[in-house]
Amino acid sequence: MTRDSEPDIVRKPNLDPVVAPQAQLPEDHELVLKLTPMPADANANGDIFGGWVMAQVDVAGSILPARYAQGRMATVAVNQFVFKQPVRVGDLLSFYAKMVRFGRTSMTVNVGVYAERIRRQGRYIKVTEATLTYVAIDDKGRPRPLPRTPET
Ligand SMILES: CC(C)(COP(=O)(O)OP(=O)(O)OC[C@H]1O[C@@H](n2cnc3c(N)ncnc32)[C@H](O)[C@@H]1OP(=O)(O)O)[C@@H](O)C(=O)NCCC(=O)NCCS
Repeated sequence: MTRDSEPDIVRKPNLDPVVAPQAQLPEDHELVLKLTPMPADANANGDIFGGWVMAQVDVAGSILPARYAQGRMATVAVNQFVFKQPVRVGDLLSFYAKMVRFGRTSMTVNVGVYAERIRRQGRYIKVTEATLTYVAIDDKGRPRPLPRTPET
């Protein structure tokens, strides 16, 4: 509860311009998801909560592996995750993915997230880069061999 005499703990959404390098969209990655974070996804700084970004990256990262798993799968590892620039309320986020490894039961995928700021549509800033591994699992949750790889 906030009393009148106490400072606000949760600030308003941060809409200030961010000085960040313009990025080229990766031609060797596939667009797998586009969405816009809402005020409810913000942290106490007014930027978007990192855990929200991680959840969306997990969803986006699963799109390409699902084509090969052809059934249940689970995220086994977040091998790497870098928050390069803050994500803002109202950003239009584009998630690009590329398969980087096929194992017997597992697949590793690279995900890059690019933001178009609310008043700078068409100018992309790379905000996040991650590498995740997914495992095809059977009905009992045990690893199962991939039914499909790019060669089969
Ligand atoms: C995914 C899961 C079924 C794997 O079971 P496991 O007993 O660890 O299986 P294995 O040791 O046989 O490994 C299976 C594959 O995952 C890979 N793997 C396991 N741990 C890994 C890690 N830390 N990083 C990358 N790959 C990993 C293995 O190399 C193997 O790949 P391969 O068959 O292509 O060579 C099990 O760990 C699990 O249920 N985890 C929870 C998943 C989950 O709930 N995810 C949501 C997060 S809340």
